[in-house]
Amino acid sequence: MRKILVTGGAGFIGAHLVDKLIKRKYKVLVVDSLKTIGGIPFINPKSKFLKGDILDTKILKKIKKWKPQVIYHLAAQSGGESAYDDPKYDYLSNGYGTFQLAKLAKELNVKHFIYSSSVAVYGSSRKKKITENSSINPDSIYGISKYVGEMFIKQILYKTKTKTTIFRVFNTFGPGENLNFLKKGMVSIYCSYVWRNKPIIVKGSLNRIRNYQYIDDVVNILFLSLKNKKLKKNEILNLTTGKAIKVKELIKKILRIEKKISYKIISKGNTPGDSFGFDASNKLLKNKFDNYKFVTLEDGIKDYFKWINLVPKIKNLKNFHPFNKKFK
Ligand SMILES: NC(=O)c1ccc[n+]([C@@H]2O[C@H](COP(=O)([O-])OP(=O)(O)OC[C@H]3O[C@@H](n4cnc5c(N)ncnc54)[C@H](O)[C@@H]3O)[C@@H](O)[C@H]2O)c1
Repeated sequence: MRKILVTGGAGFIGAHLVDKLIKRKYKVLVVDSLKTIGGIPFINPKSKFLKGDILDTKILKKIKKWKPQVIYHLAAQSGGESAYDDPKYDYLSNGYGTFQLAKLAKELNVKHFIYSSSVAVYGSSRKKKITENSSINPDSIYGISKYVGEMFIKQILYKTKTKTTIFRVFNTFGPGENLNFLKKGMVSIYCSYVWRNKPIIVKGSLNRIRNYQYIDDVVNILFLSLKNKKLKKNEILNLTTGKAIKVKELIKKILRIEKKISYKIISKGNTPGDSFGFDASNKLLKNKFDNYKFVTLEDGIKDYFKWINLVPKIKNLKNFHPFNKKFK
């Protein structure tokens, strides 16, 4: 299984995953439209890169010709709030785009199809910790489109020989996020205010609850899936630390780490599609991944700031991706 397609491989999570795969000597094809909204787009020079949309049949033909053995399907309109700016694009990319990729995987008899779904499929404000068996009740456009993707994978690939792993990923943060983009990634947004020395604007309640994962952990889990014999033919797993943190606690940690005393915090109303509480169990994930140990939130934030504090305060950060040689 040496030939791997990573859709969305120039995005925030994708670029980190591609870096890992390349370092481990896999041949990687990246397909990305470069409409990245969460990350600073980065094209790994050691990957084969196809710029284009997964909805474009010409791109799909090119992928078919390359014959990947494994597909990591990460390409998506990835923002909860930005889905409201263009619901059609969100639905097409995340829903129909996943349909196209799953169909392609079936035609190519791909060995393993790994999909980054989202916590957003559950909908929020559960009284109990979310497990993989909790009901699905998305309360945002993005949550709906990510779940449509899951359903197409089930319908198209469950009865084939292709192994499928669906990860419901929770809030992920780390170097490579676009610090100028304030519509995605709570940790990134609050850190970015500190980076600019501006008051932290919180849109929504300070009591909202999330689980936050450091990028290295998300990429490790995605990578370890390749050879993980404990994964059954079709699996759905929460990719989360399972640690519930309130927004106010997160901000406190960020300020403590950056030694900011009496920092101004401005509270504003919610953004559309912003859910109140997401807190999940990772029992199944831990069981499948030999009790994987996550980086603590504090250590993740500290590591994140090692990069943030080197980034100049300019609008276009395209040369400041952590993997960019010029930057290093
Ligand atoms: N970052 C998180 O906290 C988080 C949480 C849950 C789920 N996810 C999922 O993980 C995946 C990666 O997220 P990310 O944070 O790296 O986002 P990102 O926006 O940084 O990366 C997504 C990439 O996909 C590409 N893309 C989007 N639509 C495309 C299309 N139709 N054709 C080709 N390329 C397309 C974009 O250009 C971008 O580079 C997404 O599927 C997202 O839904 C992310």
